[in-house]
Amino acid sequence: MTLRTNIGENYEIRDASLKDEGLKTMQWAESRMPVLQLIRKRFAKEKPLQSVRIGACLHVTKETSQLCEAWIAGGAEVHLCASNPLSTQDDITAALVARGVNVFAWKFMDTEGYYRSIGNVIKSRPHITIDDGADLVSILHKLKRGEGGEDIEVIKKIIGKERDFIDGVWAGAEETTTGIIRLKSMAKEGALLYPILATNSSPCKTLYDNVYGTGQSSIDGILRATADLIASKVFVVAGYGHCGKGVAMRAKGMGARRVIVTETEPHAALQAVMEGMEVMPMHEACKIADIIITATGNKDVVRKEHFETMKNECLVCNTGHFNVEINIPDLEKMASVKVRIRPFVDQYQLPDGRKINLLGEGRLINLAAAEGHSSEVMDLSFALQALATEYIVKNKENFTKIGGKVVEIPENIDNNVAYLKCDALAITLEKMTPEQEKYISSWRSGT
Ligand SMILES: NC(=O)c1ccc[n+]([C@@H]2O[C@H](COP(=O)([O-])OP(=O)(O)OC[C@H]3O[C@@H](n4cnc5c(N)ncnc54)[C@H](O)[C@@H]3O)[C@@H](O)[C@H]2O)c1
Repeated sequence: MTLRTNIGENYEIRDASLKDEGLKTMQWAESRMPVLQLIRKRFAKEKPLQSVRIGACLHVTKETSQLCEAWIAGGAEVHLCASNPLSTQDDITAALVARGVNVFAWKFMDTEGYYRSIGNVIKSRPHITIDDGADLVSILHKLKRGEGGEDIEVIKKIIGKERDFIDGVWAGAEETTTGIIRLKSMAKEGALLYPILATNSSPCKTLYDNVYGTGQSSIDGILRATADLIASKVFVVAGYGHCGKGVAMRAKGMGARRVIVTETEPHAALQAVMEGMEVMPMHEACKIADIIITATGNKDVVRKEHFETMKNECLVCNTGHFNVEINIPDLEKMASVKVRIRPFVDQYQLPDGRKINLLGEGRLINLAAAEGHSSEVMDLSFALQALATEYIVKNKENFTKIGGKVVEIPENIDNNVAYLKCDALAITLEKMTPEQEKYISSWRSGT
């Protein structure tokens, strides 16, 4: 179903009348993101992003509104579209339009609307691209290569005949693991045409956002979608990487009777076992699971052979970036009846009478059914993104010479964010004595 939207010269959103609600929600996030506010204040004074056009394809949440505010304070022109059809918060888009951001996003957008919105961001000719999942970068490259496809046909209607929007781009930054994997694969094949800062790979992002952010908010998504009890349940987590670790840890804390991990990688499997989780393959785990969540970044992690032996009423959901981890077409083919039994729960009835509950259409459950990560953790991720943007502008001459590489954010920027967050949380660090500093950096003294 195509939803009606409000369209203006610089926006397409769900409902502009939600502005006041959105402004209040923005205030809520603002007071929980102290590090980003410090950066925003400095940006307002120094204007390091004056006249820089930023094209961002991100989850449009209250936390993203704060990143946009920092960019605007720095003097940038911001064009924002959604990085997922279900993750937009419609009150926030209305408020952002009022705050001068060009926004093209609404919750439950269809595929056509999704690509139309990316087209509108591309049309602004960004100097810097900020992605969550690499869709914006990928489309810019497809256009440049003269490729076709359903997405490109939609975008062509917005941008006209021009195909090369990459020449004006200095560099980009990428927010999530799946995006980094796609971009590194493009770089390896020589297909990436401009440098990207790997925001996701910085400690200030992966160690907190992916682990604690995804851990808490994915459980939150499951609870908001189902209102079910986690205690007493058999809870299966596919993938024990950063996100999987967070989800498994929180499921255990909520009293799950058994937390079972499925993994392909030996170290991850060993870590899970040493943390007190069980490890087994999905074809065994799915037979006993009450709840299954995928967090792998891979496809078909839950598929026909698993649906065939799953317990009646099993909840199945995903928190990985794309909706490919659960093979939904398999489930659609197998089911005799499908009912939307609650707003974020599709119940599939199989011919043998079993029911399987798919949450959030197999899209990231924390953003589909809940509000994504808490502001406190996004303070770290988006402080990093704000500083990454400034770093690109300061070094734009260098960046335009680097070519298609995925580059780490410098350690001093990451450390700076970590120190500021410690200050904000009133964490006092131990200070090394001069003797300790000398000892720790020398090889001369032994036993
Ligand atoms: N929901 C969110 O808000 C959110 C936040 C951050 C990242 N993500 C996304 O979550 C996904 C995972 O990110 P991450 O940072 O944890 O990645 P990661 O690389 O740290 O972990 C992924 C793990 O999955 C395992 N794996 C791969 N294929 C598997 C399979 N078939 N079965 C079982 N395990 C398998 C890998 O061995 C690895 O340990 C990515 O798509 C990422 O973009 C989502």
